[in-house]
Amino acid sequence: MDSSDHPRPITYPMNVMQPTTRVEPNVDATVSPMPLIDRYGRIHTSLRISVTDRCNIRCFYCMPAELVSFKPREELLTFEEIERFVRVLAPLGITRLRLTGGEPLIRADLPRLVERLADIPGIQDLALTTNGILLPQFARQLLKAGLHRLNISLDTLNEATFQRIARREGVNRVLQGIDAAIDAGFERIRLNAVAIRDITEHEAVALAQYARTKRCELRFIETMPLDADRHWTRDHVLTGEEIRQRLEDAFGPLVPKLREDVSQPAVDFVFADGQGEVGFINPVSQPFCGDCNRLRLTAEGQVRNCLFSQREWDARESLRNGGTDDALTQLVRDCVAGKAAGHGIDGPSFQPPARAMFQIGG
Ligand code: 5AD
Ligand code: SF4
Repeated sequence: MDSSDHPRPITYPMNVMQPTTRVEPNVDATVSPMPLIDRYGRIHTSLRISVTDRCNIRCFYCMPAELVSFKPREELLTFEEIERFVRVLAPLGITRLRLTGGEPLIRADLPRLVERLADIPGIQDLALTTNGILLPQFARQLLKAGLHRLNISLDTLNEATFQRIARREGVNRVLQGIDAAIDAGFERIRLNAVAIRDITEHEAVALAQYARTKRCELRFIETMPLDADRHWTRDHVLTGEEIRQRLEDAFGPLVPKLREDVSQPAVDFVFADGQGEVGFINPVSQPFCGDCNRLRLTAEGQVRNCLFSQREWDARESLRNGGTDDALTQLVRDCVAGKAAGHGIDGPSFQPPARAMFQIGG
């Protein structure tokens, strides 16, 4: 995958130097270190941490149906190792963390990790992506531990459709999880809906209605080629634009919201009656790689610079074998330096990554 595959020219945030500008190393140790900036001028401020590859359901766009081979427990980073990694990255400008999986709430004692991460100086935003099923058990503890925000996956309100996607039963368990999060006092809960042609196509209006009633934000995500079964084709992608049209037919014009943070991938709108917000994450039809500020840490301690990257940098080896903070920093800088311009999903040479979504972290 090279930059020529990229379907859209890279845009540079105004305060970011162009790649042709040489970045001089910071020689004054009293000044904060050089940020994690890549060849295209993108400054990395966000880290997504997968805490497990296991899950209590089996969404087809993420996991195989059966015979999933999970990593043995001893291969997963411990909470201490994750904390160390974040403590090294925070001074380099990583200010936003998101815990993902698999299903992160399957990992024993997750609120203990949240507590540790929330305490790290420099961390301004700590969020969790979950399928919601275990929230009745954990929502209060998570809030108390210092979690700032929750994203809950909700692709459908219909049990038959849920089972078709998740290959398990239980849309009501997810809805109870959403209620538990609201009751616990989480604010600005976001619902993520993967949009899949023929499967969730007729759900958009019902989901929007539900989200408005619950006062949750709703975001539709175009389905990406990260399924374990490798069945994804471009035909499965229900574009954000198509959904927007459906919503406008039902609710009237959507009013664009000012984009405060250019690096966040969603294009957000407010419903014309002021009741609620809806956003579209369109990685396939409108790639946003040019503004990407994200790094990923897999559950077994591999650093990735992109969901679609073919390469990983082994932080676990360094963490477990006495690697210094400087060595870890260098490893992450190398990873950032190796970041491609874009995923090139639409390009002729596109190869899906060797690992599926549940093994990378959503
Ligand atoms: N394409 C788009 N989104 C996906 N997610 C998981 N797999 C895919 C995929 N192939 C989403 C989930 C969840 C988050 C973890 O990522 O719905 O919201
Ligand atoms: Fe589990 Fe999330 Fe993957 Fe669905 S998308 S199988 S909920 S990890």
